[in-house]
Amino acid sequence: MKGLVLSGGFGTRLRPLTYSQQKQLIPVANKPILFYAIEDIIEAGVSEIGIIVGPNRDLVERAVKSREWDANIQFIYQDSPRGLAHTVLISEEFIGGEPFVMYLGDNLLCDGIIDHANSFRSSGADASILLTEVSHPERFGVAELNECGEVVKLVEKPKVPPSNLALVGVYLFQPVIFEAVKNIRPSWRNELEITDAIQWLVEKGYHVKASVVKGWWKDTGMPEDILSANNLILDELEASCSGDVADGSAVQGRVSIGQGTVLEEGSVVRGPVIIGRGCKISNSYIGPYTSIGDGCVVIDSEIEGSIVMDGTKINVRQKIVDSLIGANVNISESCKKPKGYRFVVGDNSEVQV
Ligand code: G1P
Repeated sequence: MKGLVLSGGFGTRLRPLTYSQQKQLIPVANKPILFYAIEDIIEAGVSEIGIIVGPNRDLVERAVKSREWDANIQFIYQDSPRGLAHTVLISEEFIGGEPFVMYLGDNLLCDGIIDHANSFRSSGADASILLTEVSHPERFGVAELNECGEVVKLVEKPKVPPSNLALVGVYLFQPVIFEAVKNIRPSWRNELEITDAIQWLVEKGYHVKASVVKGWWKDTGMPEDILSANNLILDELEASCSGDVADGSAVQGRVSIGQGTVLEEGSVVRGPVIIGRGCKISNSYIGPYTSIGDGCVVIDSEIEGSIVMDGTKINVRQKIVDSLIGANVNISESCKKPKGYRFVVGDNSEVQV
């Protein structure tokens, strides 16, 4: 079986972060979301993986190549986001007539995909989809099942959803899916929808197997989804300390501290918290469910429930909560007059004071 991971698109709902970063590379618990997908696929016994890249192909390729993987990875370029089924279309040569798993690189699954992949392997099904109950099904692909749990109908972002069962972004296919993607037309958003391709399989009488996910699932399309994914991953964090904790500072609960990081006097870190390498935390409070990337400096500040990316400096004598802060950001207290908030904030940013 081969693997196809999607890491293209513009990530418009995550602007301004996605002006400078590919959305699948945004870190959750200090690891790009995309890496969780690659790890899940490798864990399911797949060793040939194709990654679909788009306009930010260089960023994605550099990030993926910065690590060793137990798999051969190649990159497949999609010139513009023409839909999930279009990524299947352009991957036909790479897939080479084998069954494959397609994993959206912005999805996170608590339990990985081993069970899903194994039951597909033994089922003889033509396709296998994962479903989960959601409160806003109109934001997703939605499935209608009959009393026997068989798929009757699939529809992408329906105004009137036939059920509350959303399609999770992990799909398993036999090569017949190539026939399906060649036979569908672009949707109202001018994309070739994978949901329509699977619906085509259903209509033609192919066997589409559906299972409902037991653990949590996150589609990290919006800032609040990224923060909530961060909470879920940090809930499973193992404590470790490769840095220096000075006397007079306290580490409570499950905290992971990277190499070269210094917790200077007067600091309190209350887990679950992950702090990357080479950070300086001085006279500050880092509260539960916070991830701080590499090379960050936090002085005289408090921060909780947030993600702070690499190289950011915070020195504000205030408490920051539930925030998503990009890389190399500088948040500081100003002594200049007139006193007031000073912002240099990019397009589509969100500031709440
Ligand atoms: C895509 C699929 C949708 C699926 C979702 C899961 O939506 O089209 O069917 O439910 O991923 O993350 P999109 O992220 O393109 O809006």
